Amino acid sequence: MKAVLLVGGEGTRLRPLTLNTPKSMVPIANRPFLEHMIEYLKGHGIDDIILTLCYLPDRTRLHFGDGSNFGVKLTYALEDTPLGTAGAVKNVAECLDETFFVFNGDTYTDIDLTAMMEFHHNSGAKVTIALTPVEDPTIYGVVETSAEGRVQRFIEKPHRDAVTTNMINAGAYIIAPEVLSHIPNGLNFSFEHGLFPLLLKRGDPVYGFQSDAYWIDIGTPEKYLMLHHDLLEGRIARVFPGKPAGEGIWLEEDCNIHTQAQLEGTVIIGRNCVIGSMAHIKGPSIIGHNCIIDADSLVDGSVIWQNAQLGQKVSIRNCVIGENVVIGERTQCMEGCVLGSNVVVGSDQILEQGIKVWPDENP
Ligand code: GDD
Ligand code: MG
Repeated sequence: MKAVLLVGGEGTRLRPLTLNTPKSMVPIANRPFLEHMIEYLKGHGIDDIILTLCYLPDRTRLHFGDGSNFGVKLTYALEDTPLGTAGAVKNVAECLDETFFVFNGDTYTDIDLTAMMEFHHNSGAKVTIALTPVEDPTIYGVVETSAEGRVQRFIEKPHRDAVTTNMINAGAYIIAPEVLSHIPNGLNFSFEHGLFPLLLKRGDPVYGFQSDAYWIDIGTPEKYLMLHHDLLEGRIARVFPGKPAGEGIWLEEDCNIHTQAQLEGTVIIGRNCVIGSMAHIKGPSIIGHNCIIDADSLVDGSVIWQNAQLGQKVSIRNCVIGENVVIGERTQCMEGCVLGSNVVVGSDQILEQGIKVWPDENP
């Protein structure tokens, strides 16, 4: 079965993490997000995947190649200028001659795609939209349905007064190829503001497939961190890389963990890491490949990307630390700090709660 993945966006709300890394390559438990996505799609028989790229395309192409190392066939479609969510799919219309899936490339979910396809066939829909309940629908596409699941209204990012349901567009669609004729060629056109409202106006059958499976849009640093906490605390079933090394500890090869380092809760440590004496890694935390965490440091509830170095007595709590970041001795990063790739922070600094540091800034 075929799927189109929308992975062209700039990921502006996830900055500074996405300034050097496209959202689809952002690591989730030390593997690029797309690897998780491909694994999930394969589990539902989707093995022919078209990636629609625009922003920073090379890193994705280099990593995944033709997909054979990942057990799928991958095709790349590059947009010189963003074509929008529906425009990106129209751009690859010649590859789509049977009913296919489309996915936003930034949602992490366990929605049952096999059941969704069955629902699609049974309802006679031209488009089926996966729906998930959320607390704040105003930052998503809100979808009103009838008792049988037929979509009545689709309102993208509505004002609070216009919200009538907490069911939102989960960013997964099943589409009959004839629907593509309603998307203009070569223009920026979206599903959310363009195609879905148009189909509803025409009276075409559009259905919503409701699911209460795990679902999150990793579009902000807070959500990105939340996904890691959910993964490590077992709210989504996943197998982690590396070998279990004690209760809740997952270790990849060639690590040097000091005998007096303290690892507590669920912690994943990538390849080739050094953890110093009395360093305290408190889960849920993830340490990327080739990291050095010096003596007496504290890492609590945080995600650290590869090649980072934390000096002695550094402390970070619920932070995201980008790749190649260096943090000097005794510096404290308070709750919710996000450091972009290559940031260097000196010694004895205090980074206040929620600070975001761009790659070329020196805080
Ligand atoms: N190829 C390509 N070209 N991809 C694009 C483009 C484009 O021009 N614009 C956006 N994308 C991709 C993004 O990379 C992302 O994976 C996906 O389309 C959705 O874009 P976002 O920018 O993340 O949208 P959103 O999160 O504000 O809202 C969307 O997702 C919500 C669920 O997370 C909408 O589909 C909402 O209706 C939905 O509820
Ligand atoms: Mg999004």
